[in-house]
Amino acid sequence: MSTVVPDGNTEFVEFWNEILVPKFVKYKHILVGGLNHHSEKIFSSLNVYEGDKVVDVGCGFGDTAILFAQRVGPTGSVMALDCCDAFLEFGRRDAKAAGVDDIIEFVEADVQGYPFKSVHDFCFARFGTQFFENPVAGLRSMRSSLRQEGEMVMIVWRTIDDNPWLGLPKGIVLDYLPPPGEDARTCGPGPFSMADQEMVTKQLEIAGYNDIQFERIDAPLMVGNNPDDAVGFQLALGPAGEVYREAGEEAEQKHDEIVRALKKELSQYETPEGIVMQSSSWKISAKNPG
Ligand SMILES: C[S@@+](CC[C@H](N)C(=O)[O-])C[C@H]1O[C@@H](n2cnc3c(N)ncnc32)[C@H](O)[C@@H]1O
Repeated sequence: MSTVVPDGNTEFVEFWNEILVPKFVKYKHILVGGLNHHSEKIFSSLNVYEGDKVVDVGCGFGDTAILFAQRVGPTGSVMALDCCDAFLEFGRRDAKAAGVDDIIEFVEADVQGYPFKSVHDFCFARFGTQFFENPVAGLRSMRSSLRQEGEMVMIVWRTIDDNPWLGLPKGIVLDYLPPPGEDARTCGPGPFSMADQEMVTKQLEIAGYNDIQFERIDAPLMVGNNPDDAVGFQLALGPAGEVYREAGEEAEQKHDEIVRALKKELSQYETPEGIVMQSSSWKISAKNPG
């Protein structure tokens, strides 16, 4: 196991570790069990084969790293990076249980500026690149992990309007609380920062990629086992959670009415599988010309 903690831990990396880790752990069943329906749609079509060397950037709890390890087998390898060791602990435990711990190396690191060896066939990131402090630096660093003609695939959210599972709850919370101020502490540029096709194409070109392609993925997401679970998730994480957190005491005073309003809205999406709402992302692929 490697541990590379960056000297100059960025403000965003600190935010992930201090504020978001406990909330992600509490709602792991949604983040892993609910959101992965989404990447499942494209996983089998990824160009990853037995014996390949794969990097999984911002791997979180490590579930995709484990799937890659099962795909590349003992002749391949997976390097799974995240800036929060608390997430990687889950990955190490689950990889062992799945019998693929010899194939995966979990590395605690800030991906931006990480000294990769350019030997990997495939570099992947599911909802991780949107939080880079400097997206071009992060994307360039990911490219540096690839051999010539190696492929990078990232999945990023499209706009908030295309993602009612985040947009609707934010709108409701904003009926009661002010928007976060300019100086709000955040986890980085944010979930929708890579929604714009033209801008991301430019970022990828500057970072040195070619053969850039976008594919839209629309999928339902399970955002809570029941209305109470979904309300708790929304007030803890995402855009609604940010408004709530930043409002401090005012949010606590209005807590009951906000919960009532959210519950009324989210209950409309109740199904036998839990609260299920629509979401939309980009699968963006690009190559390292070398
Ligand atoms: C929304 S989560 C996605 C996690 C996982 N890929 C998934 O789809 O469940 C974003 C992840 O990126 C990680 N992350 C954010 N900025 C990072 C950085 N600069 N370097 C490494 N990891 C980072 C966070 O710690 C978090 O685990």
